[in-house]
Amino acid sequence: MTEWQEQLTVPRAPFIPAVVWVDDPATSGFISVSRGDDETRWHELVAADEPIITQVDDGRTAPGRTGLQPSSSCSQPSLVAAMLAALDVRDGHRVMEIGTGTGWNAALLSDRAGARGRVVSIEVDPTVADNARTALADVGYAPLVMTGDGTKGYAGGAPYDRVICTASVRTIPRPWIDQTQPGGVIVVPWGTDYGNDALTRLEVGEDGTASGRCGMGLAFMRVRQQRRDFLEPAVDELDAAETTQTGRTGRELFEMVAFTQAAFTIGLRVPSCYLTVEEIDDDHRRIELHDVRSQSWARVTLVRGHDSWTVRQIGPRRLWHEVDAAHTWWCDAGKPTPDRYGLTVTPDGTHEVWIDAPRNERHWPLTF
Ligand SMILES: C[S@@+](CC[C@H](N)C(=O)[O-])C[C@H]1O[C@@H](n2cnc3c(N)ncnc32)[C@H](O)[C@@H]1O
Repeated sequence: MTEWQEQLTVPRAPFIPAVVWVDDPATSGFISVSRGDDETRWHELVAADEPIITQVDDGRTAPGRTGLQPSSSCSQPSLVAAMLAALDVRDGHRVMEIGTGTGWNAALLSDRAGARGRVVSIEVDPTVADNARTALADVGYAPLVMTGDGTKGYAGGAPYDRVICTASVRTIPRPWIDQTQPGGVIVVPWGTDYGNDALTRLEVGEDGTASGRCGMGLAFMRVRQQRRDFLEPAVDELDAAETTQTGRTGRELFEMVAFTQAAFTIGLRVPSCYLTVEEIDDDHRRIELHDVRSQSWARVTLVRGHDSWTVRQIGPRRLWHEVDAAHTWWCDAGKPTPDRYGLTVTPDGTHEVWIDAPRNERHWPLTF
């Protein structure tokens, strides 16, 4: 057994519903796998170190149909272990989880907090919450599972020693900080609109600030209230788009889209910009940038064997130029990796990012 497997003191299988969802390469959507129809496949999915999608489209798509968007899942076991290690729940702790999902992590938290501790877990989807309550009771754990918007926290259980969110956020909700006691810890996948999130561990101070470092990259689903959206320009809009060329190298473009390279920094420098990368075929790839709020959009089309790429831009912002400039900034700053960053949230809600240490040479407030 590996070190991370030892963290997982409660089995996963009892929390996985009989119907789960898997990628469907034919449609780029998700299709259901039923335990009753394919017991072997279901067990393989449960045993793998991969997330398992347990709901699509907020429950609106029935099994047997094609789902478009995962909306609840059981997280990847090795990531669950990494987040638990960062949270460091001790016997007797009061813990709040946001994003109950299957209830597996709530069981793991309950196991750690012990009989003297208390776990509250909040799930926005009533059906998902009900299923989690049933699974938790069947396995013998009794955390308080609340149905509601976890970004508001749950003042009834405060103050907490530990807060963990198992969906990702762009901004740290103020109630989480207010409901955590000084010295308490908040662990959350935090990131920007642009790309993946970083496993972020904040410690709450006496003065109501929360501050700490970013770490490994995570790809979590967003809390419902902070989901991303993208634009699909119509053909006539594409025809009218501003068209330029960029001579950025393939290596530089890779850096712009890779989390461990420039992507995390670009997200911190370019607000409200969502990145998508699409493989069209073996020879063509598209990098797109979307800001739904200002209706701005950009596309860089890469063609194998070429060394100059066409850039199309629409809307009031020139998103490609902003991303291009942020990449230059990243190079000038010595190519900082995500784990060199930290975040401080002050009582007035300012989210200040810094490199290496708070108030170091490079720090700035984020705009949203
Ligand atoms: C990755 S899943 C959680 C995995 C879960 N901890 C487990 O052990 O299975 C994320 C969950 O967050 C829930 N969620 C999204 N937005 C939320 C919100 N504002 N408040 C509470 N739960 C939310 C989703 O419905 C989904 O069930």
